[in-house]
Amino acid sequence: MAGNITFSMIKPYAVQDNYTGPILSMINEAGFRIAALKMVRLTREQAQQFYAVHRERPFYNDLVEFITSGPVVGMLLEKENAVENFRKLIGATDPAKADEGTIRKKYARSLQANAVHGSDSDENAVIESDFFFSKLERF
Ligand code: CMP
Repeated sequence: MAGNITFSMIKPYAVQDNYTGPILSMINEAGFRIAALKMVRLTREQAQQFYAVHRERPFYNDLVEFITSGPVVGMLLEKENAVENFRKLIGATDPAKADEGTIRKKYARSLQANAVHGSDSDENAVIESDFFFSKLERF
């Protein structure tokens, strides 16, 4: 059965470009409940751990460099079939391939700076939200 939580992170350029408000608004309008939310700047070690599944990829070091370049906004989101529904809302990883009206189509600068991260599975949604939030930070 599909899970009802996903984890998302608004990435540095989208935060710097002042898109945090519009992105949260789109998430809200799409019917997700925000169960946890915070702005943090990740250390290199934290970013390496967060993106550990990609450590063998050629873009890994650049991705870690970028994600630590400024604050990010992490959030735990609830909706039925959350992972799949959220991935529809954000669009394809590469914004050039994202559908019109998706968050990445509207707010991404590039494949690396693709505005938001969204969990790719129920299992990773749990791992990523446990990485970001303590029990006391979830509502
Ligand atoms: P995200 O959803 O945060 O998950 C991993 C990230 O790696 C992805 O979004 C992109 O920002 C980045 N990424 C994926 N593929 C590539 C690629 N081919 N080149 C550069 N960055 C990539």
